Amino acid sequence: IARRPLIAGNWKMNGLKAEARALAEAMAARFNSVGSVGFDMLLCPPFPVIGTVVGAVAGTGIAVGGQDCHAKVSGAHTGDVSAAMLADQGCQFVIVGHSERRADHGESDAQVRAKAEAALAAGLVAVICVGETEAQRDAGQTLRVVETQLEGSLPAGATAQTVVIAYEPVWAIGTGRTPTLNDVAQVHGAIRAKVARVLSAEAAAEMRVLYGGSVKPDNARALLGLADVDGALVGGASLKAEDFWAIGCAT
Ligand code: G3H
Repeated sequence: IARRPLIAGNWKMNGLKAEARALAEAMAARFNSVGSVGFDMLLCPPFPVIGTVVGAVAGTGIAVGGQDCHAKVSGAHTGDVSAAMLADQGCQFVIVGHSERRADHGESDAQVRAKAEAALAAGLVAVICVGETEAQRDAGQTLRVVETQLEGSLPAGATAQTVVIAYEPVWAIGTGRTPTLNDVAQVHGAIRAKVARVLSAEAAAEMRVLYGGSVKPDNARALLGLADVDGALVGGASLKAEDFWAIGCAT
């Protein structure tokens, strides 16, 4: 099954309006300068500049996503944003369960699943993040942790069209460290096997599983060349147009 690579940029809490517009326009210009590319591109800016980014990439095929959403459609949830609001702003995707949300906001697998369900109900694709901490890795618990997170976070009825998985070892995020290629291959294989058990063999065969954690132009080709790696969730390097484009071109 040919899974089209997805290169997703998570800008995290970076980008005032002018910077966001410049970065999005730079990506749009690169898309427009080539006839076609062999990968999908997704930009996930902070909430306040989503409209700016949607406007800047309009007509290019670059998708825009939120970095989080609330599980409810509306209501008394000060500071939160619903999936329907993201869709209304022109988003097609939303990241849920990023390790920074799990750590900073104590999000549980059940909450991540509720957010993913809200995303699907709003017509968004949910990018569900999983990954072990360094202590868990050192204790040999990586596969168990990732499988437990998947079991708890995947919405029933999810399909390859509605969910993308992102494997992000917490200790590799923003550190310049990455797992060995063998380790990435092993975890991605285990994720696909788990998706087959939780959902279906068909969903597992078609679902995109991204790797995230210190993806840079110089390691992208090797990581993205692994059979079960269908793209990347990129943090720091997605803030530099040249680097993010180079990662896309490494697919
Ligand atoms: O969502 C993106 C990841 O947390 C990876 O961040 O590329 O800066 O390591 P990074």
